[in-house]
Amino acid sequence: MLDLQERKKLSRLAEKNETPFFALSLERLKANEKKFLKELHSFFPKAQACYSVKTNPLPQVLKALGTGFELASLEELEAVKSKKVFKVFNGCCKREKELKEALKQEAIIIMDSFSELEKLIMLKKKLGLKKLEVGVRLNVESKFGIELREIPKFLASAEQQGLKVILLHAHPGAGKSLQEYRQFLQKVKKALPLHSWKFVDLGSGFPSFARLAEQNVSLQQYFQLVKEELGTTLLAEHESKGKELGTTFIFEPGRILVADAMFLVCKLHCLKELNNEKIAILDAGINVLQRIVLENFQFTPLIESNGAKSVVRLAGPLLFGNDWLGTTNSNLQEKDLIVVENVGAYCHSLAWGVSYKKPEVFLV
Ligand SMILES: Cc1ncc(COP(=O)(O)O)c(C=O)c1O
Repeated sequence: MLDLQERKKLSRLAEKNETPFFALSLERLKANEKKFLKELHSFFPKAQACYSVKTNPLPQVLKALGTGFELASLEELEAVKSKKVFKVFNGCCKREKELKEALKQEAIIIMDSFSELEKLIMLKKKLGLKKLEVGVRLNVESKFGIELREIPKFLASAEQQGLKVILLHAHPGAGKSLQEYRQFLQKVKKALPLHSWKFVDLGSGFPSFARLAEQNVSLQQYFQLVKEELGTTLLAEHESKGKELGTTFIFEPGRILVADAMFLVCKLHCLKELNNEKIAILDAGINVLQRIVLENFQFTPLIESNGAKSVVRLAGPLLFGNDWLGTTNSNLQEKDLIVVENVGAYCHSLAWGVSYKKPEVFLV
């Protein structure tokens, strides 16, 4: 929830700048990072967090974070070039120039297919590399990775060609409930005994802190599931070989770090009534607040008034019939400023340039 100080800061920004605009709170971002790492390391002291850059690649965000990075393109690699941190290079369509840059930055390349494996082997030969450590993505959802039954064949092909496979990667998809997350872990668990994994990278899938609070669920419950479902299997594997647990977990948080660190301030330009429904037209619509983001956006007046509240349907400015944003129960007037919270993940990176330019970003 927006606090009083933040409200004041947003009001000051709105006095000087045209709406709509984004406001980024580095304070919130750093607090989320600290909270995430504290919980993570209380369960897995050696674990590595790699921020998923596509969630919000603004330079201010990348500069502020002290985590490693999960990267998915040359553009993203370029954006973190100067940071000497732990990096994984992901994606299902890696081009040679991207692979070269990933190698240069010593990122662990996560192989998505047999085709990619062949290409990397060719590149390794071309560059005269003696050894190369890579990862492999397990298919648990959608078009990504390699099926469980194909993993042994993949491992054998890679090792035959002098590639050392050290990392198993899987991602559950966005905003998973505890139950869905457990099911995801149970799929990953099946791949653990196939190899001696130095790293097990579990992607993300954590809801934003705001969503977790709404659902009365904690991040600890997610890590507890990892411990229950995977920790004991890994431990047993290593103990049976007379070794200590040598596997390091990697997580690739995105929305949980940035979602509530950014606000959108927009303006109500027109109130109208259609078919007995009150409609408010705002200057930001689905061009900025896309459904694919999967956040539960809340729209609140920047300055709350005491007048009688009524249900208003909110629409954006686009000449598209589906430019609806949701409803609010407020006392709204034309020219009111409206704040939308939890817009830090994907909203800016996905914002369309149709009819209007992307809103500017200010620090708050
Ligand atoms: C492979 C991978 N890792 C991490 C993330 C970040 O996920 P989230 O924003 O849900 O934390 C994504 C997002 O799509 C992803 O595809």
